[in-house]
Amino acid sequence: MNEDEWMNILVINGSPKGGSSNSLKLAHAFLSGAGWSGAETVTVADTEIAPCLGCFSCWNKTPGTCVIHDGMSGTLAKIIAADVVIWTFPLYYFSVPGKLKNLIDRQLPVNLPFMAGGNQSGGHPPRYDLSRQRHIVISTCGFWTAEGNYDAVISMFNRYYGVEKCTWILCGQGELFRVPELSSRTGAYLETVRRAGAEFAAGGINAETDAELAEPLYPRDVFEKMADASWGIAESGETQADEGLNFTKQMAALYRPDGKPRVLEFCYTDLGKTYQILLTAQGSEVITDHFRQYTTRIETPFALWRSIARGEISGPEALFRRQYKVLGDFSLMLRWDELFGASGSQRPAPEKRTPKESPRGTNMAVLLIPWMAVWIGAAINPVAGGAAGVVAAACVPLIWMIFKPVVFERISVALVAALSLAAILGQDARAVITLSYGMFGLMWLAGAFTKTPLTAYYSAAGYGGEKAFGNPLFMRTNRILTAAWSALYLVTPIWTYFLMGTRAAAYTGLINAVCPILMGIFTAWFQKWYPARWAK
Ligand SMILES: Cc1cc2nc3c(=O)[nH]c(=O)nc-3n(C[C@H](O)[C@H](O)[C@H](O)COP(=O)(O)O)c2cc1C
Repeated sequence: MNEDEWMNILVINGSPKGGSSNSLKLAHAFLSGAGWSGAETVTVADTEIAPCLGCFSCWNKTPGTCVIHDGMSGTLAKIIAADVVIWTFPLYYFSVPGKLKNLIDRQLPVNLPFMAGGNQSGGHPPRYDLSRQRHIVISTCGFWTAEGNYDAVISMFNRYYGVEKCTWILCGQGELFRVPELSSRTGAYLETVRRAGAEFAAGGINAETDAELAEPLYPRDVFEKMADASWGIAESGETQADEGLNFTKQMAALYRPDGKPRVLEFCYTDLGKTYQILLTAQGSEVITDHFRQYTTRIETPFALWRSIARGEISGPEALFRRQYKVLGDFSLMLRWDELFGASGSQRPAPEKRTPKESPRGTNMAVLLIPWMAVWIGAAINPVAGGAAGVVAAACVPLIWMIFKPVVFERISVALVAALSLAAILGQDARAVITLSYGMFGLMWLAGAFTKTPLTAYYSAAGYGGEKAFGNPLFMRTNRILTAAWSALYLVTPIWTYFLMGTRAAAYTGLINAVCPILMGIFTAWFQKWYPARWAK
């Protein structure tokens, strides 16, 4: 099936909300995936469609024509002409909204009055040949799941149009599609709907896409807590006008426990309000008084929180610009997405990934090992050290099958191979080793000025992977660290040269190996300390 075969696409938008319908967002995603830009839409809310009178005139007195002359005449003609009808509507009382039901009832002229065989429970034959026609039902409902809520709707469409003619996209938690703060999750769902559209136009929706469409946006408990908080009304019925509190409750609902108890304090500086979320192994609880000692306190205008939650500005970017303050334990901020990510529970479980899909990490040892082979080996015996350097450099491409290659590792392989050959060919070991430290230092110096600083490649894994490259504070921290490493390796050749003129020459490599170990410890500490200091 392709667009040429589906010439006439008709969208029937049955939501009383017209253009601002949640369900219509899904329908638009489907249309865009299918490439059906020319689809025509009937907005039921804007069309005059009176209820069927039940007079059967369309069957006996004026066959095929209704006695009521309103917007349904034109709509019926469009339905008859359509190759594909996309029905989009909200679930109302486990059925379709009233005005859409009027439209459905007013299709009576499309059938002949006679009783048809075939269906066990009875039916009427069609007046027109609509055998080519397909129906796509796209609907959202307010409960956490679509399952079990659409039985009446499914039965109605399947009975009237035929099971094999109907395609279904039914989505619970529909009201979340209008919450910009949750767009990372709802956007992902719309992307799946778009894919479903593309697959439908190409022949049929894949089982995998169907399964993804059936997954709830959020787990039931998360959704229900968020939904309850969104009304701004306490169960007692009293209105809670405090948007800061509602927001804090919604944030708490998104919490995914990691087993570590914490007290997260929110101070909304513009609202003059403070709330705490107790984060426990079981979940979260918002408290508004009798505050505990906080683990982490975030001081920020509420307006900024909103902007961050809506994706108008990134949290790390706002922190870099010192638009908010973090006091206490900063480590929670580094794991924010993992603990409060609005992206839902649909992340692929690690065991579901095939080895090919699982992202390879980087490892700084891959960068250091070839250099250390030359430094330690050549200081003991130039030829043996040179050979060790060549072997180590040759092994690096094999290690890249496990770890992701970094551009500086490629440069290292070339430099170490050249230096090792020079040592094997009888170049003075003192000169080769001194030069190698100098080259290593220059490579680090260059790495402090490249778009991505050298250490960033190795520390990104602990900060959400490569997306940390978009975090200005992370990049600044790593630029400083890379500069510090380059300073160390630019002075190392000086003492190395002198050390190699003494009786301790053979131990130069070993002595100098202590430096990267100490620097590694400093790096691990600085990566946590510097952003925390900045945030205060
Ligand atoms: C009168 C009314 C009845 C509703 N009945 C149900 C229902 O039976 N089950 C349900 O899950 N949601 C129900 N809802 C919630 C809507 O289906 C939900 O808000 C939907 O996402 C709205 O979609 P729309 O923006 O496309 O109109 C009802 C909403 C209204 C206003």
